[in-house]
Amino acid sequence: MSSKSGTPKKNLMLFAGRSHLELAEEVAKCLNVTITPQQARTFANGEIFVRFEESVRGVDAFVIQSHCPPINEWVMEQLIMVDALKRASAKRITVIMPYYPYSRQDKKHKGREPISARLIADMFKVAGADRIMTVDLHTAQIQGFFDGPVDHLFAQTVLCDYLQDHYGDQPITVVSPDSGRVRLAEKWAQTLGNRPIAFIHKTRDPDRPNEAMANRVVGDAKDRLCVIIDDMIDTGGTVAGAVQVLKESGASDVVVAATHGVLSDPATERLSSCGAREVIFTNTLPIPDEKRFPGMTVLSIAPLIARAIEQVFEDGSVTSLFDGNA
Ligand code: R5P
Repeated sequence: MSSKSGTPKKNLMLFAGRSHLELAEEVAKCLNVTITPQQARTFANGEIFVRFEESVRGVDAFVIQSHCPPINEWVMEQLIMVDALKRASAKRITVIMPYYPYSRQDKKHKGREPISARLIADMFKVAGADRIMTVDLHTAQIQGFFDGPVDHLFAQTVLCDYLQDHYGDQPITVVSPDSGRVRLAEKWAQTLGNRPIAFIHKTRDPDRPNEAMANRVVGDAKDRLCVIIDDMIDTGGTVAGAVQVLKESGASDVVVAATHGVLSDPATERLSSCGAREVIFTNTLPIPDEKRFPGMTVLSIAPLIARAIEQVFEDGSVTSLFDGNA
């Protein structure tokens, strides 16, 4: 006999970076595990040190970190955690980045520019990541940047359930804030019960980051409850402009639903005064109290991430979480 059978036991361990412990704790609770104890410190010169306080030999490791500011520090911390796991003989390492950092730098617009989203994937591969789990990538093709499995989760189910419960009886039009997201708006419109769609014709100057011009609505907004959908809201310029043109086009009301609340200044000011009835996010990124306002709702993405972790751990199907449409 040339082989010897081992213990058929598999162990799942959850590891959390320091950026968004609230989400990590929620995921742990859904999974009925505790976050693996660790030491994590930042030295006076900015270097980060991590050490896990339990053996990780042979485990199925899931390492969660939300990439909010200071993004580069949290990326580095997660890389260091992956490196520590690899060197301590974890069997498989899944990097969970609910918001994929640098996802908007996914192609060169002009010569001599980086493709930073690819660099992120390469760095995690080199550190030792076997797979990546993420939510609502800015563009789906980023999956191909990582040489390994990428579990791409959709927050659409979480957001659509909420919209259906709170606005399902209203004449909804699903609005894409730009022409690039029309296909996605169609999917949302279908989930919400075959609603009509519209999109905002928007122009952007590549030399002026974070500035967009909302021009006009293509589709029917008059007397409709317009639901603007987007993957992220950063400074709020895109959405505030879209709300304005929708209102000028006769929308009865506007609700905004976005997966990632990046919320760089002056997003809170813009969103709270743009005239939208409600702005809905998930908690893929932490949203501190000072960035919240009465019309903002934050839904938890933790149950979805936990279900996906279970499927990966049990060699099940992540696609099944999305009715086979992932
Ligand atoms: C654009 O392609 C993205 O989907 C978002 O609409 C954009 O990044 C949001 O940025 P801001 O809130 O700064 O307009």
